[in-house]
Amino acid sequence: MAKHVIASLRDFPAGTRKLVDVRGRQIAVFNIKGEFFALANRCPHQGGSLCEGRLTGLVEASEPGKYRYSRRGEIIRCPWHGWEFDVRTGKSWCEPSKVRARQFAVSVAPGSALVEGPYVAETFPVRIEDDYVVLDI
Ligand code: FES
Repeated sequence: MAKHVIASLRDFPAGTRKLVDVRGRQIAVFNIKGEFFALANRCPHQGGSLCEGRLTGLVEASEPGKYRYSRRGEIIRCPWHGWEFDVRTGKSWCEPSKVRARQFAVSVAPGSALVEGPYVAETFPVRIEDDYVVLDI
């Protein structure tokens, strides 16, 4: 499994999301209060873009007229037909055991911990001698 840097932490503040393309896959990455989650950007219903959905919360009712709103900003609603998915797990709200958006692992890593890529440009030492720029090849 290869690592792909998608953004600097500074450019990805809490409450925002990014649509990234990694090896031909569109992935919606969410920063929910400083925690990062990544879902396939394809709604399992008919393929709507989850990244364009509205982030909402969870409404639960113990009895008619009494409801509780929680988990603000952790449920993504597909913009096409309104199916809702838990951003933390990818599970749908309508059928959590069968219908889910595919999840991908996402984490925050210090720049020093990232492995160098496989491609390195050829470099040559350069020095300055009495006002002349000299390239050693
Ligand atoms: S495509 Fe997402 S709810 Fe229909």
